[in-house]
Amino acid sequence: LRIAVFASGNGSNFQAIADAVQAGKLDVSIELLVCDKPQAPVVARAERAGVEAFVFKPKDYASREAYEQEILQKLRDKQVDLVVLAGYMRIITSVLVEPYEGKMINIHPSMLPSFPGVNAIGQALQYGVKVTGVTVHFVDGGLDSGPIIAQRAVDILPGDTEESVAARIHAVEQELYPQVIEWIAAGKVSIEGRHVVID
Ligand code: GRF
Repeated sequence: LRIAVFASGNGSNFQAIADAVQAGKLDVSIELLVCDKPQAPVVARAERAGVEAFVFKPKDYASREAYEQEILQKLRDKQVDLVVLAGYMRIITSVLVEPYEGKMINIHPSMLPSFPGVNAIGQALQYGVKVTGVTVHFVDGGLDSGPIIAQRAVDILPGDTEESVAARIHAVEQELYPQVIEWIAAGKVSIEGRHVVID
């Protein structure tokens, strides 16, 4: 399976995927990192991992669709079969969603459908839930709304802060995301309408 990872920030999920590939635990090739923030730490991580990066500034383009067309061309050139969103903080339009329907996944730091959108961990703390979690899902046209592939629960404990919850969530993400990609690479994941079946 040939994958591209899209990220905007730290890239701890990118790193976990690259490390799993390096360790022989994940049988995919990372063809491309796509990043919209030239200063993001994930760019240096890709360089260290020997992964080609397409780094762009959205302001250099007339529209979202314009840079997405360029990204789409690169994905096609590299024959990417799965797009992995890992902290990519931009809305994705139908330019990419349609050609990669059923072939684009996202990881979100909450138990969806609770707390979609930005600052999911802060939203969960503010609401006062006792359990939050991590969701990996296919991407459709909506906000964090596509068919759910896997979820893991994370307890919120007395005295927790955004930072302490985030640390536990990130540890769970870094285990779950490579695992889900491996299931997809092994052909174990299929979509039946709203439902994802894993054999
Ligand atoms: C993760 O918490 C992920 O769930 C969210 O953005 C964060 C990215 O973290 N979508 P990192 O850049 O992979 O460290």
